[in-house]
Amino acid sequence: MFRILCLVLRVSASRCYTLAMSKENKEAVEKTIIVEHLVKNFEVTERKPGLAGSISSLFSPQKKIIRALKSISFSINKGELVGFIGPNGAGKTTTLKVLSGLLFPTAGFIQVMGFDPWTRRPEFLKQISLIMGQKNQLWWDLPAIETLELNRAIYEIPQNIYKESFDELVELLEVKKFLNTPVRKLSLGQRMRLELVAALLHHPKVLFLDEPTIGLDVVAQQKVRDFIFEYNRKHSATIMLTSHNMDDLIDLAKRVIVIDKGQILFDGNLKELVVQFAKEKIIKVYLSKEADIKKLDEIGKIKRFDFPQAILAVPREATAVAAAELLQNFPVADLTIEEEPIEEIIRRVFRGEVIKKKNG
Ligand SMILES: Nc1ncnc2c1ncn2[C@@H]1O[C@H](COP(=O)(O)OP(=O)(O)OP(=O)(O)O)[C@@H](O)[C@H]1O
Ligand SMILES: [Mg+2]
Repeated sequence: MFRILCLVLRVSASRCYTLAMSKENKEAVEKTIIVEHLVKNFEVTERKPGLAGSISSLFSPQKKIIRALKSISFSINKGELVGFIGPNGAGKTTTLKVLSGLLFPTAGFIQVMGFDPWTRRPEFLKQISLIMGQKNQLWWDLPAIETLELNRAIYEIPQNIYKESFDELVELLEVKKFLNTPVRKLSLGQRMRLELVAALLHHPKVLFLDEPTIGLDVVAQQKVRDFIFEYNRKHSATIMLTSHNMDDLIDLAKRVIVIDKGQILFDGNLKELVVQFAKEKIIKVYLSKEADIKKLDEIGKIKRFDFPQAILAVPREATAVAAAELLQNFPVADLTIEEEPIEEIIRRVFRGEVIKKKNG
């Protein structure tokens, strides 16, 4: 009935859904995060170089608009863990800050668990957490346990729930022995794990993780990843994760949203990303006799040649021709054609090369 009314009033389908849910004041919305045509502009004053420039900027400041997010739309269901990736300056942190209510959107419609984030209502803040790998909330000179106690008071976590949550997190993240050491004396990895405890004590239902493994060694990265996976599974938490670490994505995210220059380029399964953005296919051939490597090079880019195996990269559209040429002109014992490894594609996404492909 409500949907029909929405149709009559020409309200978009997802907004109609949201209106319906907020009208019924249901907390358990299926779409935990809804973003429609989100725009975020920053106004900055441009400073001209030199003293004269500084003085002129003072009297006639030159304003410049940075269009960090240019009308992005997506939605995330309850319990989903989504990788949010793109090159530097793409708009990832800006999006997470808007979603957690730290930044006011310039335009667009956003809802997180039925709340408007920028109103920063306590009921909203108690259910989310924004964790930034480069920023910390733990007090530098105090042992972490004291910040945790402080967070208990801020979030008004009842003592019994705090204890349960504290014990669980301390065990999962293996941080018991660092709790009483002043934070400044801890390693980055130890600190990051304690940051996670501090950010999750109140059992947020939505987590915004901005580069959670940045600067950590491989062992600590894996611990943090395992923990995120477990937290998502155990609490059906909805998680948005930005990372430049491809292991984070391959391990954790089934779905990825790719953003570049404030626009969404891709939203879908990590495996589909390969199909959409892979430029090359990989041909593996096993030769029955030695062959002229120079001739092989004419067919495709040789990635490895270690007799009897040769690995060639060829443009996607030329795969069939390349395979036929190999079979015809070389002593081939076996031949397989594979997709470009996912790591290679993600690497290109991080470098911002995918947009070049899209725009030709
Ligand atoms: N407070 C601000 N004032 C002005 N410009 C800003 C501000 N915050 C971000 N920007 C600009 O908005 C754009 C998007 O920045 P954002 O931090 O969201 O990128 P990002 O995708 O998180 O990049 P990174 O991978 O480097 O963390 C950039 O051009 C950045 O310079
Ligand atoms: Mg960022």
